[in-house]
Amino acid sequence: MNHTVLPSINRRSLVQGLAAMAAASWVLPARSANPIVIQFSHVVTPDTAKGKAALRFKQLAEAQTGGRVRVEVYPDSTLYKDREEMEALRLGAVQMLAPSLSKLAGVGGGDFEVFDLPFLFPSQSAFRTVTQGPVGQRLLSRLEASGIKGLAYWDNGFKVFTANRPLRTPADFRGLKFRVQASRTLVAQMKVLGASASISPLIQVEELLRKGELDGQENVPTNVFTQRLHEVQSHLTVSRHGYLAYAVIVNATFWQRLPEDIRRTLESAMREATQYANAISEAENEAALKRIADTGRIAIHHLSPGELAQWRRAMAPVADHMREWISPATVAAVRQAAGTPP
Ligand code: LMR
Repeated sequence: MNHTVLPSINRRSLVQGLAAMAAASWVLPARSANPIVIQFSHVVTPDTAKGKAALRFKQLAEAQTGGRVRVEVYPDSTLYKDREEMEALRLGAVQMLAPSLSKLAGVGGGDFEVFDLPFLFPSQSAFRTVTQGPVGQRLLSRLEASGIKGLAYWDNGFKVFTANRPLRTPADFRGLKFRVQASRTLVAQMKVLGASASISPLIQVEELLRKGELDGQENVPTNVFTQRLHEVQSHLTVSRHGYLAYAVIVNATFWQRLPEDIRRTLESAMREATQYANAISEAENEAALKRIADTGRIAIHHLSPGELAQWRRAMAPVADHMREWISPATVAAVRQAAGTPP
C-alpha cells in the first residue's frame, strides 16, 4: 500500500476497510510462519525521543519474539494525523499509537487534561512520580471503556512558546492566535492570556505559521526543531509552562487475542523501550534547543524570575476554569504526588 496517497482519498472508508482487514488477521495461531504485524503510527519525526523509542520497541519486540512479531512504525503522520489515528486504533486499522496525554480526553475522559494545567510539574521526575503512581495507573485504566489498553507513559519534556514577537510578559500574548493540541485546558490557557487558540494537527503547524494563519504555538524543542517551526517564527521563550508526554496505547481486543507468551514478551519489550524513551527525552530537548539557537534564525528568551512569577499568576485561573471538566480530586491527587503547592 502506498501511504503517501492517503490524504487525497476518503479516509473514513479507508479506515473501515483497513479495520476489516485487521479483524480478519486477528485469528492468531500460537506459532505461525506469518508474523503478527503491529502497525505503530505516530505524528513526530523518527529523530525525536518518541520516534527513537518507537524504533527501539520495534527492534526489541522483533528480536525477543524471534521474528514472530513484526512492528511497522509509521512516523510523522505518514499513516494518520492526530484525530484520525485514534479512530483508526479503535477500529483496529492500526494496533499501536503513542499520542500525547492532551489528546486522550476524548477516549479516556476529561481528567487526562490534568496534565496540561500550567506549571503543574516542578520537574520531569515529579511527572514520572505521578504517572508511575496510583493516579497515573488509574487514568490509564479508564481507556478500557473505549476499547483501548494503556501500556506505558513515555516522557517528552517541558514546552516553549514561539511567535513573531517577543513573549516576555502575559501582556505580549494579547490578540495573538496560537496553535494548541486538542485539549480544553490548553484552549483555556490561551484565553486567560488574552490570546485565541486554534486546534490543528502537528503536521500542519509549520504551513499555518508560514502563511500567517497562526501567530504562534507551544511545543517541546524537539518538535519545534524537527517540524522546522523555528524557521517561520522570530521569537522563542523558554517558559517551561507545560509538560508534554505520551501514553503508548493499543487496541484492547488485538492485545487480548495475542498468544499469552507473545503478549508477555511484548510487555517486557515495552518496559525496556519506556526506560529508553525516559532516559533520552531531556537530553534530546536540550540538544534541540541548542540546535535551534545555533541556526541564529530565532531570538531565544529565558524568563527572568520576575517574568516567571507574572506568567504563573496570569495562568493560575486555568485550573478554576477547568473544574467542570477535570475532577478536583484528580487535580489534588496529581498535585500531591508531584509535590506542587495547592
Ligand atoms: C503535538 O501535537 O504537538 C504533539 O502531541 C506531537 C507529539 O506527539 O509530540
